[in-house]
Amino acid sequence: MPRGKFITLEGGEGVGKTTNLVFIENYLKLHGIPVVVTREPGGTVLAEKIRHLLLDKESEDISENAELLMVFAARAQHIKHVIEPALASGNWILCDRFTDATYAYQGGGRNMKNSTIAWLENLVQGSLKPDLTLLLDAPVEIGMERARSRGNLDRFESEKIHFFEQVRRAYLLQAELHPSRIKVIKTNQPLIDVENELINVIGNFLR
Ligand code: TMP
Repeated sequence: MPRGKFITLEGGEGVGKTTNLVFIENYLKLHGIPVVVTREPGGTVLAEKIRHLLLDKESEDISENAELLMVFAARAQHIKHVIEPALASGNWILCDRFTDATYAYQGGGRNMKNSTIAWLENLVQGSLKPDLTLLLDAPVEIGMERARSRGNLDRFESEKIHFFEQVRRAYLLQAELHPSRIKVIKTNQPLIDVENELINVIGNFLR
């Protein structure tokens, strides 16, 4: 059984990850690919508990270092218990966010050093990297509008617009640094056009 492929879906708040995740999952299944859909932070019992702590607005002020370490603690559990076993047994992984989100939110949003993130990335992941990353991109105001309309903002969603501008900039920089892995898809266009772009990118990847 050949090792599975590791696909990640990224993007700021309200860019349409949830809708497009379902579309991508269905597209892969239609092509006979056994796919496990999961998310970060989360994906295991412990990692979901860490997610809850990270998103909880009522918690004590979380230090930037604590936030970064919690993200990677959750990731370590997720890799050990879900991602690695699935890939090793020939399943594909479709993951809602992964380490590009850390470069975007903790690196861009919180202004933490990329070298610190890279050190933890190496510790936790070794050589594990996504094979393909779909980065959904839309102007921050559009995304925030969508996030707000869902109501009940979490700890990250409650950040100021400047934070999300930094997140978006860091995501786009990641895409510039890794053009063969990260494909940017603009989502401030009709859904059908977004889906056609996804089909195009994933189709090329499958070939
Ligand atoms: P979401 O998956 O519902 O979009 O929410 C997860 C939140 O966690 C989102 O606001 C981004 C944040 N996050 C980080 O700050 N760093 C990370 O490495 C990951 C995976 C998520």
